[in-house]
Amino acid sequence: MLTKVYIPVDDYVELLPLILKARIPHCKSRPRPELDLGDLRCMFLTFQGVDAYVRTPFAFPFVLSLLRGEFCQPMHRLGGVDWLFLGSDKKVFAAALAEHVEATGEEAELIPFRQLTGTVPQEPREGEYHLIVPRKTTNYNEKSWVRNKRLLSDTPPEEWARKTAENTGNFAHLVDRFATPRLPRPPRTIVDLGSGLGYTAAGLARLHPEAQVFGLELSDAALDVARASFDEPNLTFLKHDISNPLDFEEGSIDLLVSINALVYACDQKRSAADIFAKLSPDGIFFNHNRTGYAHDFWEFPYSLIWPLIFQIYPETWAGAARERGFNTRMLPAQLSRRLTPWSFMHGMSQGTMRGMERCSLRYQEEENPEYLPCLTHSLMLHSRHVEDNMDGLLSGDGSRRETLAHCLGLAPKMPDYVQEVALRSHRENAREIGLGDVGMDYCRRFTGCRFAF
Ligand SMILES: C[S@@+](CC[C@H](N)C(=O)[O-])C[C@H]1O[C@@H](n2cnc3c(N)ncnc32)[C@H](O)[C@@H]1O
Repeated sequence: MLTKVYIPVDDYVELLPLILKARIPHCKSRPRPELDLGDLRCMFLTFQGVDAYVRTPFAFPFVLSLLRGEFCQPMHRLGGVDWLFLGSDKKVFAAALAEHVEATGEEAELIPFRQLTGTVPQEPREGEYHLIVPRKTTNYNEKSWVRNKRLLSDTPPEEWARKTAENTGNFAHLVDRFATPRLPRPPRTIVDLGSGLGYTAAGLARLHPEAQVFGLELSDAALDVARASFDEPNLTFLKHDISNPLDFEEGSIDLLVSINALVYACDQKRSAADIFAKLSPDGIFFNHNRTGYAHDFWEFPYSLIWPLIFQIYPETWAGAARERGFNTRMLPAQLSRRLTPWSFMHGMSQGTMRGMERCSLRYQEEENPEYLPCLTHSLMLHSRHVEDNMDGLLSGDGSRRETLAHCLGLAPKMPDYVQEVALRSHRENAREIGLGDVGMDYCRRFTGCRFAF
């Protein structure tokens, strides 16, 4: 069997000696004037626990660029998928190809081409490789909860953020502004999922003394701090892993709150189905998180194939809500309007970071900022008693192509200063992974969008 390896003619001359040096068994084909992306043999990847998928050839560097060690090791060893070099570190490419031919026993057919046509269809085809991409669920907050446990336990909660710069606060007033007024009667059971140090759960217990409030959290250190810091009689902290079903009766939770924690659910679809089953028919779910749109937008073209780990997929949550008869209303993030550059790509350049910071400051100054789903976090309210506004915000069939096209397509609606920084970010990301002209063309064809570059 042959692995077809398509290489732009301009890169061919440099790649060939590396392929020879790596002693990769190969044959050569005559250069083609055009390569139709619709003809490529692809793999079909679905992302564990969300309604997101991509059909893609082994397009280098995208398939190898993000989350590398975790998923790509087995992936570039798969047989029956065409390879496409779009520009990047040629040595890494040759090494990966050598590993591939050794693992599969296939021989490489090197096919130079001049230009691309068409695009990659997203409908799965019979017989092609289908891989479910696993999700990593390490608790990245754990280290700092453990490190600061003593200090936090000995410090009054109102000084936590100042003393330890922890990502925590009492957001009960926001819950009471946006969620509680939409309940037809005072809540009897309130749950804070991923309650961290317990500040918000305690605030809710004080605001609703007639209700039973439960803070559910995985980290023992965070639970210890919460229990040492708050003693409201109607408040209980319990150990719980968000990825497991809630230990509550169906339809029994009147107010469910989760702040920046549901990104940790290893299967968002399963968690969402369980949460909406446990929510009372008149209940409301206050769900604040960073959304995938923001990563997809700022990290393009890195995001061409991989979604990142720390995001929720609005489609998944709104879809699960709808199945149980709840509407979804998406609002701008209320906890912080910052773009929080540090929470995006870790290799982001200083220039882009500074640009995003400036952007963030200007966005905060706007009186009534229009909701721009690509910017950063969002607040999703799920209830029968909110008006659904998801139609214009969701991105279609769940394929990476639709999602990216949707996100990039929103860019022209954004203020100029956001567009400017986004373009810079896209160009710098492209340069970092060494995308040449053909690579840029691939991005435009894949997303059908001309905003980037
Ligand atoms: C960003 S913090 C937010 C904490 C709190 N909601 C707040 O706003 O202050 C995320 C929290 O989720 C917790 N967490 C992480 N993985 C979890 C899991 N699988 N189940 C439950 N909680 C988890 C972390 O320990 C951390 O306390």
